[in-house]
Amino acid sequence: MENIDALFDLTGKVAVVTGGGDGIGRASCEILASAGASVVVSDLSEEKAKAVADAIVSAGGKSAAVACDVSVSDDLTKLIDFAVATFDTVNILVNNAGIGGGGREAPFNIDRAYVEKIYAINVFAPWQLCKLAAPYMEKSGYGSIVNITSMSSVNNSPAMAIYGSSKAALNHMASNLAFDYGKMGIRINNVGPGATRTKALASVLTPEIEAKMLSHTPIHRLGEVSDIAGAVLYFAAPVSAWVSGQTLMVNGGGVQTLD
Ligand SMILES: NC(=O)c1ccc[n+]([C@@H]2O[C@H](COP(=O)([O-])OP(=O)(O)OC[C@H]3O[C@@H](n4cnc5c(N)ncnc54)[C@H](O)[C@@H]3O)[C@@H](O)[C@H]2O)c1
Repeated sequence: MENIDALFDLTGKVAVVTGGGDGIGRASCEILASAGASVVVSDLSEEKAKAVADAIVSAGGKSAAVACDVSVSDDLTKLIDFAVATFDTVNILVNNAGIGGGGREAPFNIDRAYVEKIYAINVFAPWQLCKLAAPYMEKSGYGSIVNITSMSSVNNSPAMAIYGSSKAALNHMASNLAFDYGKMGIRINNVGPGATRTKALASVLTPEIEAKMLSHTPIHRLGEVSDIAGAVLYFAAPVSAWVSGQTLMVNGGGVQTLD
């Protein structure tokens, strides 16, 4: 019989999570810590990151917090340096921090600066963190990268071109990096949430939008952050040792389109 605990055991592994102060990032930090990982919680808000790390430590886990704005290149270098200085290496990277979407992108109103900002956070930062973390993963003998993309990476919806294309870029980047990283012993996969109850979603959700989403959702509810964190744990843990380059939509089935 398989040892189920061993398949999900992250004892001795070091995880770095971006945007870990809230929502899906926070739930990811918590589940990885529950599986035994030492978790570096990073967030734009140092206060939020610290609250998550403190809660993990109070519950008996290992964690440390650091401020990191993923749109700032130097912050990304500092984040990986902090993880290595604090816990010696990086084994797991969760590229969670992301912005945009929610149908706010009226295509003739947004400007280039908006597009550059979304791509800086949703695409350039994950790419740079992969590059910075990969040598430590290779050296340590265990590496798993999980990008939080979105259902919008495959859906076609009005006013979502930039967010959707940025998340599609992340999907494609991972499926290609899987070739480069495979020989280094590093896996890279994506989790694509459907509409999930977080502050980001609350800021754009109306009863009408929710009803439209649910009309295409076989499991007839919106997602909870724990739904997404379960998939993050799957990709981070040894149970998925032969899975790389994949995107798993966690969305209750269906398409959750806005139309
Ligand atoms: N909630 C959803 O319905 C949903 C659906 C699909 C994809 N996603 C993706 O999931 C990820 C997390 O979203 P969420 O809903 O949990 O968001 P959230 O707003 O609940 O939390 C986001 C966290 O990221 C932090 N953050 C924001 N900008 C940052 C930056 N520049 N650098 C570092 N941290 C930053 C915030 O402070 C916050 O703590 C995003 O990549 C988002 O695109 C969310």
